[in-house]
Amino acid sequence: MDFDLSEEHLAVKEAARDFAQNVLKPGVIARDNEQRFPADEIRQLGELGFMGMMVSEKYGGSGMDTLSYVLAMEEISKVDASTSVCMSVNNSLVCWGLETYGSEEQKEKFLIPLAKGEKIGAFCLSEPEAGSDATSQRTTAIDMGDHYLVNGTKNWITNGSSASTYLVIAQTDAAAGHHGINALIIERGMEGFIVGAKEDKMGIRGSDTHTLMFTDVKVPKANRIGENGFGFKFAMKVLSGGRIGIAAQALGIAAGALELSLAYSKERKAFGKEISQHQAIAFKLADMATDTEAARLLVYRSALDKDNGRNYDQSSAMAKLFASQVAMTHTVEAVQIHGGYGFVKEYHVERLMRDAKITQIYEGTSEIQKIVISRNILKD
Ligand code: CAA
Repeated sequence: MDFDLSEEHLAVKEAARDFAQNVLKPGVIARDNEQRFPADEIRQLGELGFMGMMVSEKYGGSGMDTLSYVLAMEEISKVDASTSVCMSVNNSLVCWGLETYGSEEQKEKFLIPLAKGEKIGAFCLSEPEAGSDATSQRTTAIDMGDHYLVNGTKNWITNGSSASTYLVIAQTDAAAGHHGINALIIERGMEGFIVGAKEDKMGIRGSDTHTLMFTDVKVPKANRIGENGFGFKFAMKVLSGGRIGIAAQALGIAAGALELSLAYSKERKAFGKEISQHQAIAFKLADMATDTEAARLLVYRSALDKDNGRNYDQSSAMAKLFASQVAMTHTVEAVQIHGGYGFVKEYHVERLMRDAKITQIYEGTSEIQKIVISRNILKD
């Protein structure tokens, strides 16, 4: 077993770090305050090839592996989780879903601009009454012969107003339960599709989270992903990979809090010495470093499962469960280490603490990850 990263992987990590520290960091506090979507920054990420990292070059992507993707996600998330959630949804839910399960025509038409970062994608599963219980879809996609007629509401949709391409999960045949669910590609501008209210959130305030409304939206049959009734399995498959991205985001938030805490505790003096030399602080730093490294190993493990063709349902759920707990616990500790400075925006750790919370909620709550893990370990 080799824990060293290759030259190529180190180069990806370095490029992402450079972008995060030099391009994202200067404006991150203002974007958070103003709830401003990082449109220009996302465009630049697209130019760097970070919006379609795992998509093959044939479809406009960078042809990289999942490990490269999580390395980039970690570095970006150390600084700006609002940017990294947009990147994550586009890469691992939308682009990966389209390349793996889309038709040739769908890849040509929708995937290429998404992978190049010219357009942004959104994944629309959650509803007012179907978040964790994803089979209870109320949005309907009635089969009208050559098209589906879509009606319903989707909630908490990341990239809600910045996206052009939406993968929408909807019920076609309620009697068939989850076998009656379809995944449809809905484009911005289709008649009857309205982007509703923007959420005023605790964290990831730079990302645009919206309610979406669909009223008699005519969606061509050619926009269905996979066979009739494949939509629920599509969502589950896509979310398994998505959880690796969110686990990497949580890892980045924890690692960012650790970096800031190490630097601050070596500068700040109290009772005649740097606070890092007080055991109360040094032990906190030791716990943060140990847990962050353990989260990193789980995230890498899951990325390598995916890259090596192994099942990653369990490892991605474990990585997300653990990394998000570490992010939450240790961003609180980072604020504590910073004392009064930690409670003000200038020092970044209060934002990391607010951003950490969502990693325990989206792409399946911690409780959902425990369902996935326990079902996997109990099934044999
Ligand atoms: N891969 C393939 N198929 C899968 C699967 C997987 N990972 N997981 C489940 N399935 C299949 C099952 O095999 C089953 O199919 P069959 O009946 O043909 O055998 C079918 O799906 C139903 O499975 P379950 O009976 O296990 O379904 P369930 O109702 O008990 O739910 C669940 C399982 C894990 C709880 C699931 O509902 C779930 O993951 N919920 C959370 C959804 C979620 O993550 N929402 C987040 C929203 S997206 C988001 O946050 C994006 C964003 O904007 C950042």
